[in-house]
Amino acid sequence: MKIALIIGGSRGIGRAIALRLAKSGFDIWLTCNRNLEAAQTVQSEIKALGRACEVLSFDVADYEAVRAALETRCDKQVPDVLIYNAGIARDNLMVWMTKPEWDAVLRTNLDGFYNVTKMVLFPMMREKRGKIIAISSTSGEIGQAGQVNYSASKAGLIGAVKALAREVGRKNIFVNAVSPGIIETGMTTEIPKDKVLPLIPLNRFGSVDDVAATVNFLCSDEQSYIHGQVISVNGGLAI
Ligand SMILES: NC(=O)c1ccc[n+]([C@@H]2O[C@H](COP(=O)([O-])OP(=O)(O)OC[C@H]3O[C@@H](n4cnc5c(N)ncnc54)[C@H](OP(=O)(O)O)[C@@H]3O)[C@@H](O)[C@H]2O)c1
Repeated sequence: MKIALIIGGSRGIGRAIALRLAKSGFDIWLTCNRNLEAAQTVQSEIKALGRACEVLSFDVADYEAVRAALETRCDKQVPDVLIYNAGIARDNLMVWMTKPEWDAVLRTNLDGFYNVTKMVLFPMMREKRGKIIAISSTSGEIGQAGQVNYSASKAGLIGAVKALAREVGRKNIFVNAVSPGIIETGMTTEIPKDKVLPLIPLNRFGSVDDVAATVNFLCSDEQSYIHGQVISVNGGLAI
């Protein structure tokens, strides 16, 4: 049975990816930080689809916590797929941005990728199989005012994905980034639609299912030659 490890699967895009991959036949290891109850609800939804789902909770920024949750588990049973989806925003203009705002975003969005990927990488290399997908953002591709911390973290993920793809392609490990534009989730409720929609050629915000479908394709056996790429799902926000 194939296993997908979804980091940050309790809500929003991560939840949609978990459900989509479960529908495709993956068993799911679903992680969250504090919203254990929400993660358990997703777990029930996945079980209702006839797939197994285990829930783990830890802060991705805490290397020792990640290690305690994942090191032995991933060594014993290597996940086929890792989706690094955990992410936060703490928006502010750089001139006002506090050190805690900078640190929280970089530690969660970028350090977390290191912490989690370290736990799966050697086991995947040993087995000569695996797919790693990091959820980046249009903000990391083109920069967004008010998000210097977030743009830096998401651009950092793109650099990490490209470099890692060069390191492990020969081991049959695929590494890619999916880069959503503005997707309707808890993270984007404050965005003024009237001001932003004119910037999006498709004239709508994306849905979590738009992102999940792309991730699902990258995880499928149909795709075996996309590697080291950034797949944008943004309605044309950045062309
Ligand atoms: N929504 C958008 O428009 C958009 C656009 C581009 C990129 N993205 C990226 O897509 C990803 C998902 O976004 P979303 O809108 O679905 O976000 P969301 O609804 O806020 O969900 C974030 C997920 O990440 C987990 N998480 C956050 N901090 C964590 C930490 N320190 N340790 C472990 N898990 C943590 C959360 O767990 P808890 O529930 O336990 O907190 C939750 O499962 C993020 O990386 C985001 O940057 C989103």
